[in-house]
Amino acid sequence: MKVLLVNGGPHKNGATNRALTEIAVTLRKEGIGSEIFWIGNDPIAGCIGCGACRKDGKCFRDDAVNRFNSIASGFDGFVFGSPVHYAAISGAMSSFMDRVFYSGDKNIFYMKPAAAAVSCRRGGASAAFDEINKYFTISCMPIVSSQYWNQIHGNSAEEAEKDEEGLQTMRTLAKNMAFMLKCFEAGKSAGINVPEKEAAVKTNFIR
Ligand SMILES: Cc1cc2nc3c(=O)[nH]c(=O)nc-3n(C[C@H](O)[C@H](O)[C@H](O)COP(=O)(O)O)c2cc1C
Repeated sequence: MKVLLVNGGPHKNGATNRALTEIAVTLRKEGIGSEIFWIGNDPIAGCIGCGACRKDGKCFRDDAVNRFNSIASGFDGFVFGSPVHYAAISGAMSSFMDRVFYSGDKNIFYMKPAAAAVSCRRGGASAAFDEINKYFTISCMPIVSSQYWNQIHGNSAEEAEKDEEGLQTMRTLAKNMAFMLKCFEAGKSAGINVPEKEAAVKTNFIR
Protein backbone atom coordinates (compact mmCIF):
# COMPACT_ATOMS: atom_id res chain seq x y z
CA MET A 1 0.00 0.00 0.00
CA LYS A 2 1.16 3.49 -0.85
CA VAL A 3 0.27 7.04 0.13
CA LEU A 4 0.79 10.09 -2.07
CA LEU A 5 1.91 13.17 -0.13
CA VAL A 6 1.43 16.49 -1.92
CA ASN A 7 3.62 19.48 -1.09
CA GLY A 8 1.61 22.51 -2.20
CA GLY A 9 4.20 25.07 -1.12
CA PRO A 10 6.77 27.05 -3.09
CA HIS A 11 9.68 25.49 -1.18
CA LYS A 12 10.61 21.97 -2.18
CA ASN A 13 12.40 21.46 1.14
CA GLY A 14 10.51 23.91 3.33
CA ALA A 15 8.26 23.58 6.36
CA THR A 16 5.46 21.73 4.54
CA ASN A 17 7.93 19.20 3.20
CA ARG A 18 9.29 18.72 6.76
CA ALA A 19 5.80 17.81 7.97
CA LEU A 20 5.27 15.43 5.03
CA THR A 21 8.66 13.81 5.63
CA GLU A 22 7.67 13.03 9.23
CA ILE A 23 4.56 11.34 7.83
CA ALA A 24 6.58 9.43 5.21
CA VAL A 25 9.10 8.12 7.77
CA THR A 26 6.32 7.01 10.13
CA LEU A 27 4.37 5.33 7.32
CA ARG A 28 7.51 3.40 6.37
CA LYS A 29 7.80 2.12 9.97
CA GLU A 30 4.21 0.93 9.63
CA GLY A 31 5.03 -0.93 6.40
CA ILE A 32 3.32 1.59 4.10
CA GLY A 33 5.15 3.15 1.14
CA SER A 34 4.82 6.78 0.12
CA GLU A 35 5.95 9.37 -2.37
CA ILE A 36 6.15 13.15 -2.10
CA PHE A 37 4.71 15.06 -5.05
CA TRP A 38 5.85 18.71 -5.13
CA ILE A 39 3.57 20.90 -7.22
CA GLY A 40 6.59 23.05 -8.08
CA ASN A 41 7.01 26.72 -8.83
CA ASP A 42 5.76 26.94 -12.39
CA PRO A 43 2.50 28.88 -12.57
CA ILE A 44 -0.62 26.77 -11.97
CA ALA A 45 -3.63 28.48 -13.51
CA GLY A 46 -7.04 28.23 -11.90
CA CYS A 47 -9.91 26.25 -13.37
CA ILE A 48 -11.70 28.19 -16.12
CA GLY A 49 -14.74 25.88 -16.04
CA CYS A 50 -14.50 25.13 -19.77
CA GLY A 51 -15.54 21.49 -19.32
CA ALA A 52 -12.88 20.20 -21.74
CA CYS A 53 -11.73 17.70 -19.09
CA ARG A 54 -15.19 16.13 -19.05
CA LYS A 55 -14.73 15.23 -22.73
CA ASP A 56 -10.99 14.53 -22.86
CA GLY A 57 -10.54 12.95 -19.42
CA LYS A 58 -7.79 15.44 -18.58
CA CYS A 59 -7.24 19.16 -18.29
CA PHE A 60 -6.27 21.00 -21.47
CA ARG A 61 -3.47 22.68 -19.52
CA ASP A 62 -0.70 20.12 -19.39
CA ASP A 63 0.96 20.90 -16.08
CA ALA A 64 1.37 19.49 -12.56
CA VAL A 65 -2.36 18.74 -12.41
CA ASN A 66 -2.26 16.20 -15.24
CA ARG A 67 1.03 14.81 -13.92
CA PHE A 68 -0.61 14.22 -10.55
CA ASN A 69 -3.77 12.71 -12.03
CA SER A 70 -1.74 10.34 -14.19
CA ILE A 71 -0.08 8.72 -11.15
CA ALA A 72 -2.74 9.14 -8.44
CA SER A 73 -4.76 6.02 -9.21
CA GLY A 74 -1.77 3.90 -8.08
CA PHE A 75 -2.07 5.21 -4.51
CA ASP A 76 -4.30 4.04 -1.67
CA GLY A 77 -4.32 7.19 0.45
CA PHE A 78 -3.51 10.88 0.15
CA VAL A 79 -2.13 13.72 2.23
CA PHE A 80 -2.47 17.21 0.78
CA GLY A 81 -0.05 19.63 2.45
CA SER A 82 0.13 23.39 2.06
CA PRO A 83 1.75 26.37 3.69
CA VAL A 84 -0.67 28.97 5.04
CA HIS A 85 -0.78 32.07 2.84
CA TYR A 86 -3.00 34.81 4.24
CA ALA A 87 -4.94 32.36 6.41
CA ALA A 88 -5.67 30.09 3.45
CA ILE A 89 -3.86 27.48 1.40
CA SER A 90 -1.32 28.79 -1.12
CA GLY A 91 -2.78 30.26 -4.31
CA ALA A 92 -1.00 27.62 -6.39
CA MET A 93 -2.36 24.83 -4.19
CA SER A 94 -5.88 26.23 -4.43
CA SER A 95 -5.69 26.20 -8.24
CA PHE A 96 -4.04 22.77 -8.17
CA MET A 97 -6.70 21.20 -5.95
CA ASP A 98 -9.62 22.79 -7.82
CA ARG A 99 -8.39 21.33 -11.07
CA VAL A 100 -7.27 17.95 -9.69
CA PHE A 101 -10.63 17.31 -8.07
CA TYR A 102 -12.62 18.71 -11.00
CA SER A 103 -10.77 17.16 -13.90
CA GLY A 104 -9.55 13.84 -12.51
CA ASP A 105 -11.27 10.47 -12.74
CA LYS A 106 -13.57 10.44 -9.70
CA ASN A 107 -12.52 6.85 -8.93
CA ILE A 108 -9.00 8.06 -8.15
CA PHE A 109 -10.24 9.24 -4.77
CA TYR A 110 -13.38 7.21 -4.09
CA MET A 111 -13.31 5.80 -0.53
CA LYS A 112 -9.57 6.39 -0.18
CA PRO A 113 -8.41 7.85 3.15
CA ALA A 114 -7.17 11.42 3.03
CA ALA A 115 -5.70 14.03 5.34
CA ALA A 116 -4.72 17.68 5.23
CA ALA A 117 -1.45 19.01 6.67
CA VAL A 118 -0.60 22.69 6.88
CA SER A 119 2.44 24.71 7.89
CA CYS A 120 2.49 28.30 9.05
CA ARG A 121 4.57 30.83 10.89
CA ARG A 122 1.85 31.78 13.35
CA GLY A 123 -1.85 31.99 12.37
CA GLY A 124 -4.50 30.85 9.94
CA ALA A 125 -3.67 27.16 10.12
CA SER A 126 -7.12 25.89 11.03
CA ALA A 127 -8.79 27.95 8.27
CA ALA A 128 -6.40 26.43 5.70
CA PHE A 129 -6.91 22.96 7.22
CA ASP A 130 -10.70 23.34 6.85
CA GLU A 131 -10.25 24.42 3.24
CA ILE A 132 -8.38 21.26 2.26
CA ASN A 133 -10.81 18.98 4.10
CA LYS A 134 -13.69 20.31 1.99
CA TYR A 135 -12.26 18.61 -1.11
CA PHE A 136 -12.33 15.26 0.72
CA THR A 137 -15.86 15.49 2.00
CA ILE A 138 -17.25 16.17 -1.48
CA SER A 139 -15.32 13.19 -2.87
CA CYS A 140 -16.37 10.34 -0.54
CA MET A 141 -12.93 10.27 1.08
CA PRO A 142 -12.73 9.09 4.70
CA ILE A 143 -10.75 11.69 6.64
CA VAL A 144 -7.84 10.57 8.78
CA SER A 145 -7.51 12.64 11.91
CA SER A 146 -4.77 13.12 14.49
CA GLN A 147 -4.35 14.34 18.06
CA TYR A 148 -4.62 17.99 16.98
CA TRP A 149 -5.51 19.78 13.74
CA ASN A 150 -2.71 18.76 11.43
CA GLN A 151 -0.45 21.78 11.57
CA ILE A 152 3.21 22.53 12.04
CA HIS A 153 4.71 25.89 12.89
CA GLY A 154 7.80 27.49 11.38
CA ASN A 155 8.95 29.58 8.48
CA SER A 156 11.40 26.94 7.31
CA ALA A 157 12.16 23.24 7.70
CA GLU A 158 14.67 24.13 10.43
CA GLU A 159 12.04 26.01 12.43
CA ALA A 160 9.43 23.31 11.87
CA GLU A 161 11.97 20.83 13.25
CA LYS A 162 11.64 22.59 16.61
CA ASP A 163 7.85 22.19 16.73
CA GLU A 164 7.77 18.95 18.69
CA GLU A 165 4.00 18.92 19.03
CA GLY A 166 3.56 19.57 15.31
CA LEU A 167 5.89 16.69 14.45
CA GLN A 168 4.10 14.38 16.87
CA THR A 169 0.77 15.38 15.31
CA MET A 170 2.17 14.30 11.92
CA ARG A 171 3.39 10.97 13.31
CA THR A 172 0.02 10.26 14.91
CA LEU A 173 -1.66 11.15 11.63
CA ALA A 174 0.60 8.72 9.76
CA LYS A 175 -0.08 5.92 12.25
CA ASN A 176 -3.82 6.52 11.98
CA MET A 177 -3.58 6.54 8.18
CA ALA A 178 -1.69 3.22 8.25
CA PHE A 179 -4.28 1.74 10.62
CA MET A 180 -7.16 2.82 8.39
CA LEU A 181 -5.48 1.48 5.27
CA LYS A 182 -4.86 -1.88 6.95
CA CYS A 183 -8.46 -2.03 8.18
CA PHE A 184 -9.75 -1.32 4.66
CA GLU A 185 -7.47 -4.00 3.24
CA ALA A 186 -8.67 -6.51 5.85
CA GLY A 187 -12.27 -5.58 5.04
CA LYS A 188 -11.66 -6.14 1.34
CA SER A 189 -10.15 -9.57 2.05
CA ALA A 190 -13.25 -10.38 4.10
CA GLY A 191 -15.46 -9.53 1.11
CA ILE A 192 -16.51 -6.04 2.18
CA ASN A 193 -16.46 -3.89 -0.93
CA VAL A 194 -16.75 -0.12 -1.26
CA PRO A 195 -20.38 0.97 -1.63
CA GLU A 196 -21.79 1.16 -5.13
CA LYS A 197 -22.46 4.75 -6.12
CA GLU A 198 -25.91 5.90 -7.22
CA ALA A 199 -26.02 7.92 -10.42
CA ALA A 200 -25.42 11.49 -9.24
CA VAL A 201 -28.45 13.76 -8.86
CA LYS A 202 -27.60 17.40 -9.46
CA THR A 203 -30.03 20.19 -8.65
CA ASN A 204 -28.89 23.74 -9.14
CA PHE A 205 -31.48 25.40 -6.93
CA ILE A 206 -33.04 27.24 -9.83
CA ARG A 207 -36.48 25.75 -9.44
C1 LIG B 1 2.46 34.98 0.66
C2 LIG B 1 2.64 34.43 2.05
C3 LIG B 1 1.62 34.56 2.97
C4 LIG B 1 1.76 34.03 4.25
N1 LIG B 1 0.71 34.12 5.12
C5 LIG B 1 0.82 33.58 6.36
C6 LIG B 1 -0.28 33.61 7.27
O1 LIG B 1 -1.37 34.08 6.98
N2 LIG B 1 -0.07 33.06 8.50
C7 LIG B 1 1.12 32.53 8.88
O2 LIG B 1 1.23 32.09 10.00
N3 LIG B 1 2.15 32.43 8.02
C8 LIG B 1 2.03 32.95 6.77
N4 LIG B 1 3.08 32.84 5.89
C9 LIG B 1 4.27 32.07 6.29
C10 LIG B 1 4.21 30.62 5.80
O3 LIG B 1 2.98 30.02 6.10
C11 LIG B 1 5.31 29.79 6.43
O4 LIG B 1 6.54 30.36 6.16
C12 LIG B 1 5.25 28.36 5.92
O5 LIG B 1 5.52 27.50 6.95
C13 LIG B 1 6.21 28.10 4.80
O6 LIG B 1 6.05 26.79 4.31
P1 LIG B 1 6.94 26.26 3.09
O7 LIG B 1 8.37 26.35 3.57
O8 LIG B 1 6.51 24.87 2.86
O9 LIG B 1 6.66 27.18 1.95
C14 LIG B 1 2.97 33.37 4.61
C15 LIG B 1 3.99 33.22 3.66
C16 LIG B 1 3.83 33.75 2.40
C17 LIG B 1 4.94 33.57 1.39
